[in-house]
Amino acid sequence: MEMVRLIYASRATEVFKPAEIKSILTAARKNNGQSDITGLLCFTSRCFLQCLEGGRDKVNHTYLRIAQDKRHEDIQIISFEYISEREFFGWNMGYLQDGPGMRELLKTHGGSETFNPYDLTPVAALNLMCDIRDDIRAAAAEE
Ligand SMILES: Cc1cc2nc3c(=O)[nH]c(=O)nc-3n(C[C@H](O)[C@H](O)[C@H](O)COP(=O)(O)O)c2cc1C
Repeated sequence: MEMVRLIYASRATEVFKPAEIKSILTAARKNNGQSDITGLLCFTSRCFLQCLEGGRDKVNHTYLRIAQDKRHEDIQIISFEYISEREFFGWNMGYLQDGPGMRELLKTHGGSETFNPYDLTPVAALNLMCDIRDDIRAAAAEE
């Protein structure tokens, strides 16, 4: 089975309220678990950055479903690549709460205080998501 990784950026619409992150993550973890999809979701400055990895058909179907969600708009694929290994193994959808740690990483990768995921190159987007993953793991190890 061909495995792929897709990263997209989008902007929250008026309909989206930050408290909804919880229900998005609940749906994502259930559905992605069934489809063997792993990944990470970031939300900051009203923008989403999400990575989906897994079988090509599942990733495509899931992405198309997410893209129809009225809670975000201006959805742009930043990268789509064939992969031999997952970066987010074990996470049906990881999530890092917006905060100082996240903003520090965004500044490092995005180069400015205000995060604009649309400016990220494919390599920068993946590096950012891997750094966020490492941050989450380090925080979990400290607990
Ligand atoms: C930014 C964003 C990310 C989402 N990510 C996922 C995801 O990774 N997997 C998923 O199944 N649904 C995701 N959703 C939710 C879907 O759009 C949709 O509401 C959900 O899949 C419906 O699932 P249900 O029929 O089980 O309720 C996301 C929605 C938004 C706005």
